Amino acid sequence: MKAIEIRNKFLNFFEKNGHKIIPSARLIPENDPSVLFNTAGMQQLVPYLLGEKHPEGTRLVDYQKCVRTNDIDEVGDNRHLTYFEMLGNWSLGDYFKEESIKMSFEFLTKELEIPAEKLSVTCFAGDADCEKDNLTAECWKKVGIPEERIYYFGKEDNWWIAGEEGPCGPDTEMFYDTGKPKCSEGCNPACDCGKYIEIWNNVFMEFYKDKDGKYTKLKQHNVDTGLGLERMAMILQGKETPFDTELFFNLMEKLKELAIEENIASRRIVAEHLRSSIMIINDGGRPSNVDSGYILRRLIRRMTRHLNKMGIDLSKLSDLIDIEIDALKEMYPELIENREKIKNVLIEEKNKFTKTLKNGEREFEKVSNRLKNNGKDTIDGKTVFNLYETYGFPPEMTVELANENNLKVDIKDYDILYKEHQEKSRMGSEVKFKGGLADQSEKSIKYHTATHLLHKALKIVLGDHVNQKGSNITEERLRFDFSHPCKVTKEELQKVEDIVNEQIARNLEVTCEEMTLEEAKASGAIGLFENKYGDRVKVYTIGDFSKEICGGPHVTNTGKLGHFKIKKEEASSAGVRRIKAVLEN
Ligand code: SER
Repeated sequence: MKAIEIRNKFLNFFEKNGHKIIPSARLIPENDPSVLFNTAGMQQLVPYLLGEKHPEGTRLVDYQKCVRTNDIDEVGDNRHLTYFEMLGNWSLGDYFKEESIKMSFEFLTKELEIPAEKLSVTCFAGDADCEKDNLTAECWKKVGIPEERIYYFGKEDNWWIAGEEGPCGPDTEMFYDTGKPKCSEGCNPACDCGKYIEIWNNVFMEFYKDKDGKYTKLKQHNVDTGLGLERMAMILQGKETPFDTELFFNLMEKLKELAIEENIASRRIVAEHLRSSIMIINDGGRPSNVDSGYILRRLIRRMTRHLNKMGIDLSKLSDLIDIEIDALKEMYPELIENREKIKNVLIEEKNKFTKTLKNGEREFEKVSNRLKNNGKDTIDGKTVFNLYETYGFPPEMTVELANENNLKVDIKDYDILYKEHQEKSRMGSEVKFKGGLADQSEKSIKYHTATHLLHKALKIVLGDHVNQKGSNITEERLRFDFSHPCKVTKEELQKVEDIVNEQIARNLEVTCEEMTLEEAKASGAIGLFENKYGDRVKVYTIGDFSKEICGGPHVTNTGKLGHFKIKKEEASSAGVRRIKAVLEN
C-alpha cells in the first residue's frame, strides 16, 4: 500500500468515526518561539489540550509534517529520518482509553489488514506520579491482545511529553513483530534489535507537568496519537527500510546509477536530506546562519558533501530534485507550483558551499596527514575552530570526516572556543527553550494580543498594503514583520505607538467567535491567507478596533497589557520591514 493510500485510509476512517479533518500546521511554526520546527502533531493543538475550545470540535484527525533533528547524525542507517509525516487522531476532552484503543485496533487490523498476531503493545508500569495503567491493558485484552503480548515500562518508554513542561501522560505503544528471531531471551518491544517496530503511539494526556516537575491533572482528558507514515508504508510494503518505499526508491536508484563510488549510507543521507530540504523550502524555509535556517543549511551542505564523496557530478542536482518532487507531488501537490523556487534555493546554496567544501576538505587532509605523521589521532578544538573560522568548514563536517578517517576530535575543547563565539555561529537546535512547546505564559499571551493591535495600527498609519509577513514572540518582546516598501519614519512609528497605547487605555474587551473561513473573510477579519486554515476558524475581536483570524489565546481585556513601546524598526528582506516592541509595566 502506497503512503498516500495509508494517509487517505487514516483520514477517512477517523472521519467516519466522527473526527473533523484539520490541515497540517506549517513546518516552521509562526508565533511559537520555543521550537524551530513542528516536531509533533500535538504542537498546534497545545491550547486545546489545555482546555480552550477548538473551532472544529472535540474529535480531530490530521496528517502533520514534522522535522526532528536530534538524530540528524544518525541519518544514513536503515531507519532514521529528519522529515517525516505523522498521522494523528485527537480527542479533546472527548473519548478516552477504551474507545481510542478500539479504534486503533480496528484501523490496524481491518483497514490496514495487519494480522492481530503481529501486534504487541506496551503500557505504563506506574510510579510515584501516576499509577500503573491497568485500564489500558484491560482494553487491549478486550480487543484480543493476549496478556503475553502486553508489556509494561516506566516513564522512559511509556510516557509522553514534549520538552520539560506541558501537557503529558502515560502512553500505549503498538509494535509490529517482523517475525525475526528474538535477539536474546529478554528481547521485547523496548529492544532495538529490529524484531519489533514501533508503529503507533497513543498518549493519554491528562496531566500537566510544571517547571518544578510537579504533575497536576488537566481540566480534561485528551488523546493524542501519532502514527509514523513512512514506517507504516515500509511495513505494509514488506520493505526493510523507508528508503525502499516509493517515497525514496527512484531517487536511491538514480544515485546508484550516477555514483562512481557507491555507498549506501551516503545515498541514504543524500536522499533523506534532499527530501527534508525540499519540504522545508516548500514551507517557506530558507538557508541562513540561525535557527531553522541553519538546520536547512546543514542539511544541504551535508547532502552536497555526500554527493561529492560518491563522485556524483553536482550539476545533476536539478535532475535529482525533479525525481524526488515527482515522487512526492501526489502527497503534497503544492510542490508542483513551488518546484522552480525549491530548485533555485537548493542550487544556490549548493553553489555557495562547493568552494568551501573543496578548500575545507583540502585543509582537513593536511591536518589529518600532519597528525598521522606525528603518530597522533586526535584533532584539537582549535584546529576544528580554525577550519570553521578560516575556511567556513562546519564543525559537524570535521567530526564526520574525522570518523571516516579513524580520527578523534576533542569536541569539548572545541565547545569552549565555540561558546565564546556563539553569537557568530549559532548551530541551532530544534528545542531552543526549556518548555519545548508552544509558549503559553502570561507574558507571551500579552504580546500576542499586542501584536494584533500593532498590525491594525500599522494599517491605519501606513495603509492597507501592510500585511503580516511573520511574527515571533518571546517572554521579552514581540517581533513583527510586515509588507511595506520603505523605512517607517520616526513620526509614523510614534503615531503607531500612540494608537496602540490608546487602545490599551480604552480597556477594550477581547472576544472570540468561531465561524467558517468564508464568514470570517466576509466579516472583514484579517489573516495570513496564504496559511492553510481549516474550514472553521476562530476570529478574535478587540473592541471596535481589530478583527483577526487567529488560534489564540489572548488576554480578555487590553487594559492588562501595560505600556507599549517600539524599540526598533529595520529592514527584514526586500519589501518587508521588521518592528521589535516591548510591553512595559
Ligand atoms: N505526541 C506523540 C508523539 O509525538 C503522539 O502523537 O509521538
